[in-house]
Amino acid sequence: MRRRIGILSAGGDCPGINAVIRAATKAALRKGFEVYGFLGGYGGLVEKAYRVLDEAAISGLLHRGGTVLGSNNRYNPMRYPVTIDGQTVFKDCTKEAMETIEELGIEGIIAIGGDGTLAVTKDMAAYGLKAVTVPKTIDNDLHDTDQTFGFDTAVQTATEALDKLHTTAESHHRVMVLEVMGRSAGWIALMSGVAGGADVILIPEIPWNIDAVARKILDRKKNGKPFSIVVVAEGTPDPEGKLVIRKRIEESHEPIRLGGIGQLVGDLIEERTGIETRVTVLGHIQRGGSPTPFDRVLATRLGVEAAERATRGEWGVMVCLRKGEIEAIPFDQITPGTKHVPPDHHLVLAAKACGISFGDE
Ligand code: F6P
Repeated sequence: MRRRIGILSAGGDCPGINAVIRAATKAALRKGFEVYGFLGGYGGLVEKAYRVLDEAAISGLLHRGGTVLGSNNRYNPMRYPVTIDGQTVFKDCTKEAMETIEELGIEGIIAIGGDGTLAVTKDMAAYGLKAVTVPKTIDNDLHDTDQTFGFDTAVQTATEALDKLHTTAESHHRVMVLEVMGRSAGWIALMSGVAGGADVILIPEIPWNIDAVARKILDRKKNGKPFSIVVVAEGTPDPEGKLVIRKRIEESHEPIRLGGIGQLVGDLIEERTGIETRVTVLGHIQRGGSPTPFDRVLATRLGVEAAERATRGEWGVMVCLRKGEIEAIPFDQITPGTKHVPPDHHLVLAAKACGISFGDE
């Protein structure tokens, strides 16, 4: 029997996952391994849902967004949702997940995911799961890797949206507010705001006040620019410091779904400046579509490294990008928590030097 490894994608999808699946599978096949792709994240291990990945199965994946294996940000084998009499209850299904691995003779898995997936994978190691993780998220909020794939594509999408919003802003002399994703980190807002020529960027890491925002917009009007572009990260708290929450998904690793701060900011701006204001929520458009060349290349490099480690039996590591090099960091050395934008980050200071307001001064 040929040696076998598994691969799965968990958590929210993002552009570049398919490129990781493709690269990791190609590299493992060339080493003589068989590759089993589990469907729907960790749910595939519990439910024994998988596809054998051969060259044909991974053909044409490089440029495709999403993940052909499917993903799920609710399936944690240690707290697996099952429906009994119409009610969802949580069951420990680690035994079922580990049985799948043993029955298929899989040596270990490559798990592509964000912080939730990493936490589940680390915990599953205690039950004997051998894994290499590949960090992914459009939010770019993971420590120990300089950038996550998916982020560059999300920034490109948000920048294109800002370019388009400029048209109406200029033509109608309006304020256009764009709410972007990123959870509690402002990376997408910061990068797209600078790239898209925003006048105001509001991010969770920098407390803001409406006086400063209104002042910036009114100053522009006074100086012959009766329109403004505002980018707001979804995790930016309101002026009282409260998060604006759209809904809660209890089965999810991170139950809070943010959303609505853009409208709140837009309403306050219109009230304070008297300038007609419109709000756009970019939403999941940021997670979709074809990855940029940067994300394709990063995903390919990470996928190959993950396969190299897995086929050599070097489990318990996360592959990552550091100073342009692809490395691997042991699970127990991974920095926990969210990588936030430092308020004195060079790009924040550069943006301020160019006159962009963060609503703080
Ligand atoms: O973490 C990626 C992300 O797209 C966040 O930016 C966003 O807050 C969240 O996921 C949305 O999650 P869901 O797809 O479950 O609505």
